[in-house]
Amino acid sequence: MGGAVAYRVSFVVDSRNPDEYVALAAGPDEYDRIRRRVLWRMPTGLYLVGSTAGGERNLMTASLVMQLCVDPKLVGVVVETAARTHGLITAGGCFAVSLIARDDRALVRRFVRPARDDPAAHTLNGVAYLDAPVTGAPVLAQAVAYFECRLERSVALGSHTLFVGEVVGAAVGTDPDAELLRVEDTRMSYGG
Ligand SMILES: Cc1cc2nc3c(=O)[nH]c(=O)nc-3n(C[C@H](O)[C@H](O)[C@H](O)COP(=O)(O)O)c2cc1C
Repeated sequence: MGGAVAYRVSFVVDSRNPDEYVALAAGPDEYDRIRRRVLWRMPTGLYLVGSTAGGERNLMTASLVMQLCVDPKLVGVVVETAARTHGLITAGGCFAVSLIARDDRALVRRFVRPARDDPAAHTLNGVAYLDAPVTGAPVLAQAVAYFECRLERSVALGSHTLFVGEVVGAAVGTDPDAELLRVEDTRMSYGG
């Protein structure tokens, strides 16, 4: 009996009448599919996370980014354990987050695998970056805004690690009111 209940997925058809549920899933595969779809639907921003250690730099497309605390100012980024960014944040003890203009949505596709740094040209995968002044973590030169963080703690979660950083610097670009990119603006999805 427990098994049948565990795989039954319901949603409220009429929130005024919580008894009125519709059973959706026939089994674990369908439940997986529905759960993924629901998690993908969470409205999420899309950012570039910059990291640096030992002269190496990287920018990584990331949606699992959010402010975690107001005082102190803490932001969390959640990174796959196998990602190059994971090693760089762990070793370098810092990261930066670039807020991207909606019009620059094509850029994020260039940072879904480890980026090639050209330190002389100051480009990663051919895209211009700046070293954030406090931590040295790279930020997109054309970012709408960015902030940089010192790593405050790391929480191993499983496939991913939550890196909690304290904001130690922030800056806005020339068009601070530009609309910001969200995952929904792209055909990409992540997580779920
Ligand atoms: C829309 C989208 C959002 C993503 N968000 C994250 C994220 O929040 N955390 C993460 O670890 N990888 C995320 N990724 C995957 C990374 O961009 C990709 O695995 C990257 O190559 C790993 O970074 P690396 O260059 O440090 O190895 C996302 C990918 C896409 C397409």
